[in-house]
Amino acid sequence: MSTGNMRWQVCTQRPVAYDVIKAPGLFQPDNHSLLALGRRHGGRRFVVVDAHVARLHGDAIHAWFAHHQIDAHIETIHGGEAQKNLEVYQHLLCALDRFPIHRRDEPLIAIGGGVLTDIVGFVAASYRRGVPHIKVPTTLMGYIDAALGIKAGINFNGNKNRLGSFEPPLAVFLDASFLASLPQRHLLNGVCEIIKLAIIGDARLFERLETYGAASIATRFAHAPGEAILDHAVGSMLAELAPNLYEEELARKVDFGHTFSYGLETRHPHRLLHGEAVLLDILVSVLIAEHRGLLSAHETTRIFTLIQQLGIEPDLGVLDAEVMWQSLLDRIEHRNGLQRVPMPAGLGQCVFANDITRQELDAVLPALHNRMKEHHESALER
Ligand SMILES: NC(=O)c1ccc[n+]([C@@H]2O[C@H](COP(=O)([O-])OP(=O)(O)OC[C@H]3O[C@@H](n4cnc5c(N)ncnc54)[C@H](O)[C@@H]3O)[C@@H](O)[C@H]2O)c1
Repeated sequence: MSTGNMRWQVCTQRPVAYDVIKAPGLFQPDNHSLLALGRRHGGRRFVVVDAHVARLHGDAIHAWFAHHQIDAHIETIHGGEAQKNLEVYQHLLCALDRFPIHRRDEPLIAIGGGVLTDIVGFVAASYRRGVPHIKVPTTLMGYIDAALGIKAGINFNGNKNRLGSFEPPLAVFLDASFLASLPQRHLLNGVCEIIKLAIIGDARLFERLETYGAASIATRFAHAPGEAILDHAVGSMLAELAPNLYEEELARKVDFGHTFSYGLETRHPHRLLHGEAVLLDILVSVLIAEHRGLLSAHETTRIFTLIQQLGIEPDLGVLDAEVMWQSLLDRIEHRNGLQRVPMPAGLGQCVFANDITRQELDAVLPALHNRMKEHHESALER
């Protein structure tokens, strides 16, 4: 009897469910939010804290674990894009390997910005083929974007996020009080991602930014309208991410501003923050959209006015057509053969372009320089 031509199929589905929980005052002694997940009695936690956060909030974090009798090993790493590398990843794995934890009920805890939560997520994904982790974002970028989804990773071989995985957290705890100590430049960096969300998918959020954005930045989102903007941005981001967590659909609205920016950010790691690079890409895309008749002159003006109102000054000096074009070509590989560039089609609406030409890009850069200059001059006159 022949045993050839046999075939077995393995097929399973793994549900993904995690909560994103607002938890103000997370490290106040009487706050029990973090205790809800994982082994409590005799519990141990491997905690990774951003160095600036450790300097500013480290005592409270140490005291909280001591108060709740959790044996915490606190490892500190620096933030900044340059840290998102193999060495830091490996350093954390070695430290983790020296500190015994249960594989299922002693989650890693990541407390920091997007750089830290991306690295720790990747550590969690790869250590013992996966251990649980909790994210506590401390930057605005983390709060409204980086910590909310399941993408984890590090930069590799000169490319951003080239190594990584999809690793759902056990939970995400949002404590906006961390934003009080965030440097202004990093606050605005996060605001750029809120602007992205608003232009491409949420006209109501755009209006909120027009009305309350400047005051929210001034108060570090600690007043009611600022808090409402944060809630709105988190909800809007999750609505985009949740149905497509594993990026089966490669045409993603949230990739608005993430086509040309990719190369600019890699080329200028010491000059541009992630959100700053994204904003440059947004402005280029907005002008392409206007030239294509997707945005009206009035809508385009509203976008430029908002950026100015919020005190954001894009660094146009880094714009470079060749770098941006190469970046687009790389994104075509990443997006499986098509450009799939999200473009605004009216404020809060999106279409995907697959036919952006080098000539179009070359033409739009001087147009952007002129537009910013005009805008600046008219603001001075007002
Ligand atoms: N995984 C995702 O889906 C996703 C989404 C968006 C962005 N990202 C990634 O996020 C990274 C950028 O994140 P980021 O902007 O948070 O950068 P970051 O983590 O480098 O933090 C920015 C700076 O703020 C400091 N800091 C952090 N919290 C602070 C606080 N509360 N008070 C004072 N200083 C504080 C850090 O030390 C650092 O110097 C990029 O690598 C980007 O690729 C990931």
